[in-house]
Amino acid sequence: MIPGARLIILGRQGAGKGTQCVRLSRHYVVPHISTGDMLRAAVREKTELGLMAKQVMDAGGLVGDDIMIGLVRERLARPDAMGRGYILDGFPRTVAQAEALDEITAERPVHVVIDLDVPRDVVLARISARRVCRDCGTNYTATGNERYPWICEVCGGDVMQRDDDTPEAVNRRLDLYETQTAPLIDFYAKQNKLVVVDGVGHPDDVFRRLTAAVDAAKEQRI
Ligand code: AP5
Repeated sequence: MIPGARLIILGRQGAGKGTQCVRLSRHYVVPHISTGDMLRAAVREKTELGLMAKQVMDAGGLVGDDIMIGLVRERLARPDAMGRGYILDGFPRTVAQAEALDEITAERPVHVVIDLDVPRDVVLARISARRVCRDCGTNYTATGNERYPWICEVCGGDVMQRDDDTPEAVNRRLDLYETQTAPLIDFYAKQNKLVVVDGVGHPDDVFRRLTAAVDAAKEQRI
């Protein structure tokens, strides 16, 4: 049986974190905890959090640290994450979130932090072609040859562009990544937990690089 894992995946917007975390979650049989997906579910359900978060997300901003830390603290306390582990996608995004996560996971620390490295011009092209299923979140890449309405082949939901994938919001998110999230690369390098993985290439090749990096890092820590 493949052992579990405790992973953080960092990377620019559009680097392929969501795409690869779905695969990693199946491979290591651990939950994929995407704070973006959690917030989008709250928006769909029109909860108090969702109504507040929608404005921030559509403008390409960041939801407050306290709210995000509370959400993740609660999610990591569930039995699946306490047992085999977890893959964190989209958290932490600020140094304050990373410091809180260190405290939350003090007894069961993260095995490895991956920086999925894709240059800004490549992620911009990927995001402008990204389409997602409104119901299940499956990602698609638009080629211009699609038939509309575009129906999700996984769940039959509507496939559309994300509300925060406008050029203005994407540029703001990428700028925020450089100022707020890129410092985490140093933060985890100092803890000797960081591995940089090239995220350019076919998704199958990226996945092979990721599992090789995770397995090597886990072996080192045993
Ligand atoms: P979130 O959902 O986390 O969005 P993000 O960080 O902007 O990341 P993306 O979903 O844009 O990119 P991705 O790396 O997952 O790429 P993907 O796999 O889709 O967050 C949304 C918002 O929520 C934030 O802006 C913020 O407001 C809020 N939020 C969330 N967490 C927060 C936190 N901790 N604190 C505060 N606020 C928070 O891939 C992109 C495209 O490329 C897809 O079309 C895909 O099919 C394609 N693709 C993937 N891999 C490849 C490949 N190898 N080759 C070619 N194409 C590829």
